[in-house]
Amino acid sequence: MDYDVVIIGGGPGGYAAALYGASAGLKIAIVELTKVGGTCLHRGCVPAKEFLESAAVYRTVRGASEFGISTGEPTVDFAVNQRRKVAVVDQLTRGLSGLLRGRKVTILSGTGVLLPGRRVRVIDGPDAGSEVTGRHVILASGSVPRTLPGLDVDGRYVLTSDEFLELEHVPSSVAVIGGGAIGCEFASLLSDLGAKVTILEALGTILAGCDDDVSAVVARSFKRRGIDIVTGAQVKGHTPSPDGSRTVVQLGDGKEVEVETVVVSVGRRPRTEGLLSEGTEVQLDERGFVVVNHLMQTHEQGVWAVGDVCAGTPQLAHVAFEEAVLVIKGILGEPMVPVDYERVPWAIYCHPEVAFVGLTEAQAVARGIPVLVKKDPFGGNSRARIIGDTEGLVKVVAEQLPDGSAGKILGVHMVGPWVTEQLGSGYLAVNWEATPAEVAQFIQPHPSLSETFGETVLALTGRGLHVG
Ligand code: NAI
Repeated sequence: MDYDVVIIGGGPGGYAAALYGASAGLKIAIVELTKVGGTCLHRGCVPAKEFLESAAVYRTVRGASEFGISTGEPTVDFAVNQRRKVAVVDQLTRGLSGLLRGRKVTILSGTGVLLPGRRVRVIDGPDAGSEVTGRHVILASGSVPRTLPGLDVDGRYVLTSDEFLELEHVPSSVAVIGGGAIGCEFASLLSDLGAKVTILEALGTILAGCDDDVSAVVARSFKRRGIDIVTGAQVKGHTPSPDGSRTVVQLGDGKEVEVETVVVSVGRRPRTEGLLSEGTEVQLDERGFVVVNHLMQTHEQGVWAVGDVCAGTPQLAHVAFEEAVLVIKGILGEPMVPVDYERVPWAIYCHPEVAFVGLTEAQAVARGIPVLVKKDPFGGNSRARIIGDTEGLVKVVAEQLPDGSAGKILGVHMVGPWVTEQLGSGYLAVNWEATPAEVAQFIQPHPSLSETFGETVLALTGRGLHVG
C-alpha cells in the first residue's frame, strides 16, 4: 500500500479527514481537481457569508443616523466586495494548504477515479496517470448545484450559486428559484444591496425545513423589505427579451416575472459521475449519492464516504467535518459514535439569521410526543434594543412529562440577531438531553442576546421572569 488513506476530494470532508488522520500519524494522500477547500471555501459557505457581511455593513451604515452618526447616502461597489471575497478565500486557502503541507499530506492534482482493490487513478490534470493505493479510501467528492429543465445555466440570465458568487455587479432585479438555505441567503443579500428580488418556491413556504415560527419571521421580514415571495410556484422556463437586457420567467399558473437575472437554488446533487470504475463494490442510490451505513462505510470493505456525496445526510460542511473524524477513528480502530443527524446544528445566514438544532414543534407532534413550548421575542431583549435589531425570537421545544412538567429539550429554534453565534447553548442542551430545569441553572451574561435563550428555558420551568 502506498498510503494509509487515499481521499478523493479536498473539500471539508476530505481535508478534515486528512488533517485529523495526519495528526494521528496516518500517511495520507488527497486527490483534488482544483484547490483544496471545496465548495464550502470556494463556491459556497465562505464566499456567500462574505457577501452577506457586505450587506450587513451596508445596512449598518444606512441606519447610522439613528445613532447620531452621519455618513451621507452610502453606495455599493460590488466589484470591490468581489475582490475582498477573493482575498478572504485566498487567505484561507493558503492557510489550509500550509496545514496540509505541514502534516505531510500528499496532494495529487486532477480527477480521481476509484478502481477495484482500493486503487485510485488520476485521470486528468497535472498528475494525470498517477495511481495510488490506500489501506483505506475515503470518497469525498462533494456535490454540485442541481438545475431545472427549461432553465439552462448560461452564466448570463440563469446562474447557480457557482456563477452568482463570481458576479461583479448587483443585478437590478433577480428571481431566486427555491426558497431554501441558499435561496434565502441570496435573496436577503441581494435585496439589502438594492436588487428587486422575487423568490419562486415550489412548496407552501420558504425555509420549509425550519420550525414554522422561524420561517414565518423570515418571510415577514423579507416581505417588509420588499422581497416578493411566490409560494406553490411551478417554474416552466424563461424567454430573454429581444434587446437581451432582461428575461421573462414563466410560471405554471400563467404568471410571468421579468428580471435581469435568475438564480437557481433548488438543492445540490452528488458529484459521482465517473467517480467509480467497473468492478468496485461501492453502491450509488437512484439519485447518484453514495450509499453508506451509520459509520460512513460503503458496500466495499475499506472504502468510506463523507460529506455531500453521501445519501441521506444533511449537506453541511460541519457535518462533513464530523463524519471525517468518525471515519478516521474507525480506520484507527477506535470506538465510533455515529453522527446523530437529527441533532446537528443548522445555521442560515440571511437577515434575520436562523439557527436551530433538534426537532421542530411540528416534527415532535407528528411523532406523537407531548410537548411544552415557549417562545421569547428579541423585542424584549435589552441588547437587541441597544443594537437596534429586535426582529426574531427563540423557541424551545421540550418533551412534556406525565406530571405536566418539562422533560428533555428536543429542539431549539432561533431567528434574529447573531443567532448563528448563539446556538451553542441550545446545541449542548439538545445533545446532552438536558431538561429546562438543568439548563436554567446556567447564567447568561446581561445585557446579552443570549439571555433570550436563558429566558425561554426558564419559562419552560413554569416560572419565567419575562415570559409567562
Ligand atoms: P435546499 O434543499 O435547502 O432548498 C431548495 C429549495 O428549493 C426547497 O425549498 C425546495 O422546495 C425548492 N425547490 C425545489 N425544486 C423547485 C422548483 N422546481 N421550483 C421552485 N422551488 C423548488 O437547497 P439549497 O438552498 O439549494 O441548498 C443546497 C444544500 O446546501 C442544502 O442541503 C442546504 O442545507 C445546504 N446549505 C446550507 C447552508 C447553511 O446552512 N447556511 C447555506 C447554503 C446551503
